[in-house]
Amino acid sequence: MAETFYVTTPIYYVNDFPHIGHAYTTVAADVLARYHRYAGRDVFFLTGTDEHGQKVEKAAEAAGETPIQLADRVVERFKNLWVKLNISNDDFIRTTQERHIWAASRFFEAVQEHGDIYLGMYEDWYCTPCESFWTEQQLVNGKCPDCGRDVHKLKEESYFFKMSAYQKPLIDYLEANPSFVRPESRYNELVSFVRGGLKDLSISRTTFSWGIPVPGNQKHVIYVWFDALLNYISALGYPDDMERFNHFWPADVHLIGKDILRFHAVYWPTFLMAAGLKPPRQVFAHGWWTIEGKKMSKSLRNVVDPYALVDTYGIDPLRYFLLREVPFGQDGDFSHQAMVHRINSDLANDFGNLLNRSVGMLVKYFGGKLAEPTDLTDLEGEIRELTMETYRQVEAAFGDLAFHQALIAIWKLVGRLNKYIDETAPWVLYKDPNKHPRLMAVMATLFEGLRHISQMIYPFMPDSAQKMRNQLLLSPIDTLTSRYETDRIWGQMPIGQAISRKPPLFPRIESDKT
Ligand code: MSP
Repeated sequence: MAETFYVTTPIYYVNDFPHIGHAYTTVAADVLARYHRYAGRDVFFLTGTDEHGQKVEKAAEAAGETPIQLADRVVERFKNLWVKLNISNDDFIRTTQERHIWAASRFFEAVQEHGDIYLGMYEDWYCTPCESFWTEQQLVNGKCPDCGRDVHKLKEESYFFKMSAYQKPLIDYLEANPSFVRPESRYNELVSFVRGGLKDLSISRTTFSWGIPVPGNQKHVIYVWFDALLNYISALGYPDDMERFNHFWPADVHLIGKDILRFHAVYWPTFLMAAGLKPPRQVFAHGWWTIEGKKMSKSLRNVVDPYALVDTYGIDPLRYFLLREVPFGQDGDFSHQAMVHRINSDLANDFGNLLNRSVGMLVKYFGGKLAEPTDLTDLEGEIRELTMETYRQVEAAFGDLAFHQALIAIWKLVGRLNKYIDETAPWVLYKDPNKHPRLMAVMATLFEGLRHISQMIYPFMPDSAQKMRNQLLLSPIDTLTSRYETDRIWGQMPIGQAISRKPPLFPRIESDKT
C-alpha cells in the first residue's frame, strides 16, 4: 500500500476576506501535496474555514446578518480563491458542518470521560479580536501581547481542560521528536515555554452562543480554538470512520503562521493525548509578510488582495514568487518591485529564454524534430549528472520544507543549460553539415533537460509545467497514475515529432503595469 501524506492549512476565520497571508500557506500546502502525489503517495490535503466564536458573531452583527449568513457568504470568497490559485485540496471543512459538530462533540465527551475536563470559574484578561485569555504577566503595557489591542477582565463559569496534567507527556513527546516543531528556533522557544509550566485551559464560554454547545450543558459553547483544532480529525471521519482516520492520522504536517504556534504545538497535542490519540508528526510555523515594508492591516488599507495579484501577475508567477522570495519559516516583504523583478529575471529571462531559444533552434535546424543522439561528449554526461543531482537536492529541500532551496536548485540547472547553449554554440555547428550529428546531440540534451525541468517545476507551477509539456509533446503529469520513478530516467524525449514555437510562458512585465 502506498505511503500516506496528510497536510493541512489553518482553517481561516470568515470574519475577514482572504489576503496574501492566507494565500501563502495554502499555496505552500498545495505545492507539498502535488509533490507528494507525484512521488506516488496517497495524499490528503485539507483546508477550510473557522466559523464559530465571538469574533464571527460580532462581525455578523455589524454586517446586519446572522453568523451563518456571514459564513455562507465569506466562505465562497475562500473557495473561489483556491480555485483561482489552482489549489488541489482534497476536502474543504467548515466548522459549521454537521460532520464537524458531531466529531467535536464526541471528542469533548471522550476527553471528559477520560477525566480531563472539569467545571470551574474563570477569571482573566481577554482579548476579543484574538479570542485569547491572558494572565496579568503576559500583557504588554496592559494590552494584548499578540495584537496590542485593549483587553478586558472576564469572569465566567467555564469548563476546564486539565492541560497541566500533560506537561510531562508533552515534554517527553517534544524530546522524542525534535522535528515536531519547525523551524528549529521555534522548537527551542516552545520547549522552554512548556518547561515553564502548563496551566489548565478554559475550553467553554457562556457569554455568547455562536459555537458548538457543550454536550450535556447547553449554557456553554465550546471554546473556538478547541472547536477549530478538531477540524484536522473531523475531516478524516473521526470518530465514526476510524479506518479512514487511522489511514491518514497522525498528520504529516500542519502548516501554520508563527502567531498560532502555541495553539498547534501545545494545546493540540495535549487535547489529542487526552483523547487517546497521537499528536501530529510536525507543525511548521512560517513567517509573516509585510507589504511594501509595512505591517499588513485593514486600517492601513494596504492589504494585498490575492485576486488582484493573480489578475495582474498570473497564477504561477504569484505562486513562484511566494515560495521563492522568502525562505519558508522566515518573515518577508511583499513589494510590487520585487515581484516584477522575479518575474522578469527568473521566469521571463532565465527560464523563458531557455525554452524559447531551444525551441527556436530546434525548429530552425531540424524542423522541430529530435532524433536519437549519437555524438555525445563528457559535457552531456555532466548535464545528465547535474540533472540527477538536482532531483536529489529538490527532494532534500522538500524534506525540510525549504521551498526556496528547491527552486534555487532547479534554477541552477536552468542556468547550466543556458550556459551549455553558449558553450556548444549550436549556430556554429549548424554551419558545418559534418557537425550536424553533434548539433543533434546538443539539441537532444537540451530538450531532455527541459523535460526534467517541467517535472521539477510541476508542484510549484502546475499550469505552466503542463503547458510546457504540451509544447514539448509530452503527456501531462498525472499524479493519479504517478510515473515519477520512470519520468526521472534520463532519455525519454519523444523522437521524430515536430515541436513548434509557442507564445512565451512568462511574458516580461513592463513595470508601469503595476
Ligand atoms: N482560525 C484561526 C486558525 C485555526 S486553525 C485550527 C486563524 N485564522 S486566521 O484567518 O486569522 O489566520 C490564518 C493564518 O493566516 C494564520 O496562520 C496566520 O499566521 C496567517 N497570517 C495572517 N497574517 C499574515 C501575514 N501578514 N503573513 C503571513 N501569514 C499571515 O488564525
